Amino acid sequence: MLNRLNPLFALVLIFSILYALLRKVYLSLSRQKFSSKHGCKPALRLPQRERLIGFDLLKEQMLAAKNHKLLETMRNRSAKYGNTYTATMMGQSYIVTNEPENLKAVLAMNFQDFGLRGRKESFGPLLGNGIFTSDGKSWEHSRALIRPSFVKAQVSNFDIFENHIQSLISLLPRDFSTVDLQPLFFRLTLDSATEYLFGESVDSLHVHDGSQETFASAFDYASSEIPKRYRMGPFVALYRNKRFFESCKLLHDFVDGFVEKALTETTKRGEQTEDKGRYVFLYELAKATRDPIQLRAEVMSILLAGRDSTASLLSLVFFTLARNPMVFAKLRREVDELGGKKPDYEMLRQMRYLKDILNEVLRLYPVVPNNSRYALRDTMLPCGGGPDGKSPVFVARGQIVTYCVYDLHRRRDLYGADADQFRPERWESLRPGWAYLPFNGGPRVCIGQQFALMEVSYMVVRILQTFRGLESRDTEEWKENLSATLSSLNGVKVAFSV
Ligand code: HEM
Ligand SMILES: *[C@@H]1O[C@H](CO)[C@@H](O)[C@H](O)[C@H]1NC(C)=O
Ligand SMILES: *[C@@H]1O[C@H](CO)[C@@H](O)[C@H](O)[C@H]1NC(C)=O
Ligand SMILES: *[C@@H]1O[C@H](CO)[C@@H](O)[C@H](O)[C@H]1NC(C)=O
Repeated sequence: MLNRLNPLFALVLIFSILYALLRKVYLSLSRQKFSSKHGCKPALRLPQRERLIGFDLLKEQMLAAKNHKLLETMRNRSAKYGNTYTATMMGQSYIVTNEPENLKAVLAMNFQDFGLRGRKESFGPLLGNGIFTSDGKSWEHSRALIRPSFVKAQVSNFDIFENHIQSLISLLPRDFSTVDLQPLFFRLTLDSATEYLFGESVDSLHVHDGSQETFASAFDYASSEIPKRYRMGPFVALYRNKRFFESCKLLHDFVDGFVEKALTETTKRGEQTEDKGRYVFLYELAKATRDPIQLRAEVMSILLAGRDSTASLLSLVFFTLARNPMVFAKLRREVDELGGKKPDYEMLRQMRYLKDILNEVLRLYPVVPNNSRYALRDTMLPCGGGPDGKSPVFVARGQIVTYCVYDLHRRRDLYGADADQFRPERWESLRPGWAYLPFNGGPRVCIGQQFALMEVSYMVVRILQTFRGLESRDTEEWKENLSATLSSLNGVKVAFSV
């Protein structure tokens, strides 16, 4: 066989194979050395029929997602196989872990060893290269750029929310008839986010004609496509969806108008970024960069990261309050102490019980319930290996570490036997550290955390100042709606009384 080939070609072939083999041996030896140096032991392998593609697991995951039981499935799996295990899906090797120590390593201690994977590909056409999609140096730049704007946003006055919450309140029935709050909250947060980002709201709570309604529907459509694109992994490049790209184009054109305005306004007014005492995020950001493409990427990132998450939290808060009359009554007393006054930053900060409620809702229903990071180089996790799960685990470059915050937040060994119960009072003494990650942790922790908690608190207080009574009009159990964020599949059907 060989003598019929060109001898030079044969030689090259042999050397290539040899080189590949040697490389493999070398890599495996150096990994063994790394492993033994750090005392790494293998984590449990999820039993799978074959580990080349891992088709069985993929099928299971897809079925669970279809039945809206993905989070429960993840939780059952870790109950059965332990808090750290490895698995293969679509030919990709995963380490799944729910150990606080491991999450601390991935998100903080060994932050440099991990990156995002697939986010640029799935979110890129919509967001561009902004804080949410970028990694490494480019991310550092974005983060530094937008951080000062948030410091100011957190303590700004809440007039930016007031008009919008009043629009929502005006849509709520006062005769104790049923209303689904969830779709209204998604409009509310779009309206308030566009207001503080652009200085002008799309007012989607009001029925509109023309361009403004289109912004809302294009944004909804484009963001609903993201999880689908994310799931496709590297194959997303082959996926052509005309409507998705058209929506992105429409959104970009719309945002570009505001970017242009911000650039001229900030030139005119110099340092002053408050328009009649109003805080505008884009004007603030235009002080840090004059690049219109970057400005667009950053505000789109913030809109995507901040809108659905805030709407989901608001929805889950009312879902839970309506089903827990004692908690509602206790919150009612705290709200009444304000004597009907519009709350400011300090007043909201003093509302201890409301804070405990938000913590507890985010524990049971973390709106970003699972997440993952990609190993950029060989590294390790501090625990999860060996038969007792106490040894470090080696992580090879290219492996994905996946973590399910929903599962973590319901661990009975960490939160007690009543971990499934909604009990805000537990927060009077709870300090869970890395066992509680609704906003993620480490250098990439949610930059809008304080702002989001303030916004949600403000909206909750204003609704409770308008309505005395709240009742659930839904007898079914909570079911997951796992889209860009986690919300309730059956919506939030409640009734109010004045
Ligand atoms: C209840 C509301 C919110 C929750 C639960 C939440 C949660 C999170 C989580 C878990 C991440 C980390 C994602 C990851 O790195 O994989 C994140 C990142 C981020 N969040 Fe939030 N978020 C909320 C509201 C907001 C709001 C209101 C804003 C902006 C106004 C915002 C802006 C961002 C940004 C820009 C990032 C990316 C940060 C970075 O990569 O450096 N978030 N958020
Ligand atoms: C999870 O486990 C519980 C208790 O064993 C069981 O009732 C439930 O059906 C399981 N759920 C799924 C989705 O497998
Ligand atoms: C959440 O889990 C599902 C199933 O394992 C996975 O397809 C999806 O990519 C995960 N999301 C993230 C952000 O890791
Ligand atoms: C699920 O959530 C998404 C937004 O996160 C929303 O667009 C969709 O309508 C929700 N589905 C149901 C059935 O509520």
